[in-house]
Amino acid sequence: ETAAGPAIRRLDDWSAADLADLADEYGTPLYVTDLDRVRENAARLLDAFPDADVRYAVKAHTGRAVLEAVRDAGLGAECASAGEVVRALDAGYDAVQYTAVNPPAADLDVVLDRWRAGADLTVVAGARDTIDRLRDRGYDGRLAVRVNPGVGAGHHEKVTTGGHAKFGVPYDRAPELLAGARADFDVVGIHAHAGSGISGDQLDAHRELVARMGDLAREVGDLAFVDVGGGFGVPYHEDEPPLDPDAVADATREALGDVDAELAVEPGRYLVADAGVLLTRVNTVKPVDGGGTDGTVPVVAGVDAGMTTLLRPAMYDAYHAIRNLTAERPERPVTVAGPVCETADLFCEGRTMPTPRRGDLLAIGNAGAYGYEMASTYNSRPRPAEAVREGDEVRLARERETIAGVTDLEVGR
Ligand code: LLP
Repeated sequence: ETAAGPAIRRLDDWSAADLADLADEYGTPLYVTDLDRVRENAARLLDAFPDADVRYAVKAHTGRAVLEAVRDAGLGAECASAGEVVRALDAGYDAVQYTAVNPPAADLDVVLDRWRAGADLTVVAGARDTIDRLRDRGYDGRLAVRVNPGVGAGHHEKVTTGGHAKFGVPYDRAPELLAGARADFDVVGIHAHAGSGISGDQLDAHRELVARMGDLAREVGDLAFVDVGGGFGVPYHEDEPPLDPDAVADATREALGDVDAELAVEPGRYLVADAGVLLTRVNTVKPVDGGGTDGTVPVVAGVDAGMTTLLRPAMYDAYHAIRNLTAERPERPVTVAGPVCETADLFCEGRTMPTPRRGDLLAIGNAGAYGYEMASTYNSRPRPAEAVREGDEVRLARERETIAGVTDLEVGR
């Protein structure tokens, strides 16, 4: 095994005993993140893209320990907000890219304060208004322009960014905008992002995007980098093959063609998805009325994690593997449901799995990307804790939020 590790870590590869110990120590729901796996994922990407600038899209997982592990591996940071920029700089990234999507004034103020204080920053603007607002605020540093590449891809339409008018300037307007910006900024690059969770069979869309970016780079010239986005998918189903990063890299190089600029990519999910699991405990099991075709009665298993802990199933109908860590039992159709008062609050519906019992510990796979990050306090539910593992050591990385933490912002309470 190399530093890059196996191509994919499945939920079954985690030690049930280790995870059970963690649940006992820190309680549930609990995110567990394996920093060694984050490092392996980073190494595999860097192996595939040896001559590209690889920037971690920190939105996938902004935990400090993860940011540091990825930074140590040699990646840069790609940030979507002032908060992410602050986190990345605090975690010691030297070069930070801020991709501003309709940036609130407060975000620009915070980011430009950091820039004035000496932060090595590149701002990616996706609208003429953003460029004007940066100029008005006295920014004259490195600027890249986000382009709408007219093509997108992703695991769900809600995360297919490329081609949507929300993101980037119209492709045909980009040369003129870039030329105009050169007077006031250090124009360094062009940027596009197809979407999130691009699978092997969507590589054609990626190729098309990259080819367009190559054409644009040759047309405008004098750029330091061409950023073709992130979005590299990971398998969520147990039988899905992993994306081959070498194949993605080859396709990218080939589609880009000869450009006098560095290739940049900005994956998020790929680095962290399979480095994380969510542990949750069963508190309620009940039969489904009138159900059962194969002699077994389907059940609903109520657990202490919900859509407020891991939103992806509710938001994108995303599939996440679920494993019973407590016992192997005869299988039956199981609906795993959270405590939130919405029917969307399900981790799976009628999935065949070992019959759960009250007190069982379940692990939900691929929870490392867009897991904790999308947690909310809906239903006044505190956000979960997170533990990180590194070698044989385990430590608490984010404390469990308390009800007081949820309610304390209220004025006059
Ligand atoms: N660059 C830009 C400009 C992006 O907008 C994104 C993701 C990335 C890079 C990283 O994409 P990744 O490599 O992680 O796929 N919450 C959704 C994913 C939303 C992604 C948004 N943008 C989910 O859980 O599937």
